[in-house]
Amino acid sequence: MKLAVFGSPVANSLSPRIHQKFALQCGLEIEYQAIEATEGEFRGKLALFAGDGARGCNVTAPLKHEAWKLANRCSESALRAHAANTLVFFGANEWFADSTDGQGLVNDMESIADCRLEGARICLLGAGGAAASVLGALLESKPDSLVVANRTRERADELSEMHSELGTVDSCAPNELDTREPFDVIINATSLGHSGSAPALSPGWLKPDGLVYDMNYGKAAEPLRQLCKQENIRYSDGLGMLVEQAALSFRMWTGKTPDSAEVLRELRGSAA
Ligand code: ATR
Repeated sequence: MKLAVFGSPVANSLSPRIHQKFALQCGLEIEYQAIEATEGEFRGKLALFAGDGARGCNVTAPLKHEAWKLANRCSESALRAHAANTLVFFGANEWFADSTDGQGLVNDMESIADCRLEGARICLLGAGGAAASVLGALLESKPDSLVVANRTRERADELSEMHSELGTVDSCAPNELDTREPFDVIINATSLGHSGSAPALSPGWLKPDGLVYDMNYGKAAEPLRQLCKQENIRYSDGLGMLVEQAALSFRMWTGKTPDSAEVLRELRGSAA
């Protein structure tokens, strides 16, 4: 089975390793490449790949919006996010787009000890592409309330309005969080980690046993990890989300459900 991840830069993507581990678990043989493509090159490279008998692909930055546009069918989550991280090819001209990031996040968070999303007070920091890809799934997990906090308030307003039919969702600027009741979970969906910084975050925004979940992993997760360590705040990076979203993509292509927890343990073990 021919598979790939498209993106730019993509050479350091963990996806080839993750999917090879899944394939090994499930007794399947796959060829999973990392294909570098700029926005201008994506359409052409994708058509070549699909035309070569590939089953599907993952898509990462900066191509997720384009991937959704290129597909002729899509899931509700891709439609809501206006983005896709997974494509499945059914023949040369039928491309199905899905966004597994949100469910991947929810699945990972629910595997964290004492972390329940149902009934929780959630704050989502950020209102860009990363936030848009997870908001629907977070609301579907039935939190008590969810607020989107973003530097550019209008983007937060727009994103929450787009999702209002899925549950109670509100928006604000980050400095207004001082006046809110403390949260059970704060999720970082800003891109600040990629420029070496962490979002401003006050311990008072969280309940005493609250959790900060960073959708970043690796180097981009370090600034917030350090901040939480200093402030004695419970923290998780987003490596588990990466594995869980991959597991959902793998199931779409192969029909098999891999053991994502085992793969996450292996990745954490090899990073230690
Ligand atoms: P991505 O696809 O990674 O989500 P994006 O769509 O550019 O990237 O969104 C980046 C997010 O990080 C936005 O919520 C952005 O806030 P703005 O909408 O106000 O731009 C947030 N972000 C980036 N740099 C930031 C900074 N220095 N301070 C606060 N928020 C920042």
